[in-house]
Amino acid sequence: MNLKGRDFLTLKDFTPEEIVYLLDLAADYKEKKKQGVDVSTLRGRNVALIFEKTSTRTRCSFETAAHDLGMGTTYLDPSGSQIGKKESIADTANVLSRMFDGIEYRGFGQEIVESLAEHADVPVWNGLTNEYHPTQMLADMLTIREHFGDLKGRRLVYMGDARYNMGNSLMIVCAKLGLHFTACAPARYFPNEELTQICKSYAGESGGTITFTENVEEGTKGADVVYTDVWVSMGEPDAVWEERIRDLSPYKVTMDVMRNAGEKAIFLHCLPAFHDCNTKIGKEIGERFGLTEMEVTDEVFQTYRKFVFDEAENRMHTIKAVMAATLGAVQ
Ligand code: CP
Ligand code: NVA
Repeated sequence: MNLKGRDFLTLKDFTPEEIVYLLDLAADYKEKKKQGVDVSTLRGRNVALIFEKTSTRTRCSFETAAHDLGMGTTYLDPSGSQIGKKESIADTANVLSRMFDGIEYRGFGQEIVESLAEHADVPVWNGLTNEYHPTQMLADMLTIREHFGDLKGRRLVYMGDARYNMGNSLMIVCAKLGLHFTACAPARYFPNEELTQICKSYAGESGGTITFTENVEEGTKGADVVYTDVWVSMGEPDAVWEERIRDLSPYKVTMDVMRNAGEKAIFLHCLPAFHDCNTKIGKEIGERFGLTEMEVTDEVFQTYRKFVFDEAENRMHTIKAVMAATLGAVQ
């Protein structure tokens, strides 16, 4: 398997074998990190990390993973670059390619990271766009595989706004790797028809399935993994909170949902999560709408916290695998 020079923009661009290869590589890096093995084979290289939206996990994962591999990092924060304001994506890509060996981009439309990749001479990695969050998918699949020992045939249900980055990306990765994916939400929050058709063709080859349902009991019955995400994503206007709370409250992950899924089920969340009101936004929204928790109850979050934080840790190991493979640290 040789992924040297490849961009990492969406998992649509990768075969199931390539995705599994990245998971195996991440597991290997995780083991090496635990044993204290030096993996700094990319000494002397440098990567640029562009964040037009904020981040804790993704930024820290890119930075720690790059440092473990021996690389230097430059972080461009949401206000700290000229990109898209005073300088075009194409010019930015050309400039950064003269200085760096790889570029991470987190921001708005997928077309921006694609344009960056088109004009850059070095690998470009998608650290989240409105449409996709592919590095998160590797961490999620690694976490599920670590817990269950396999992926094929597992049943994952996503509850919430399934037409945005997390719902889209989970549908893609499940379809590629042969998991059974269910989006459980009001119909207008289902992924779009075009992407659904593409994923159905992947599922046809992998043995996976794709199901959409508005019914929580049916959708979560017997699930191996119950997954949710914030109801309002970064970059969306505050004005949408009201309709989201109205539409998605029936799809909150509660202990009843977990019991319906079954004893072996786990809960995952890409984080950050509104499982209580101990955050500035959580407090504001909580007071405005009379809520104490949103997409997941604090009881579910605390009961399944081990998996959620394994998932967060796995961001670093999987991002390390993506950088190492595409920069040619491993063959
Ligand atoms: N899950 C995730 O992408 O987290 P951050 O927004 O903190 O990077
Ligand atoms: N849907 C969320 C994911 C955060 C990791 C967002 O885009 O804000």
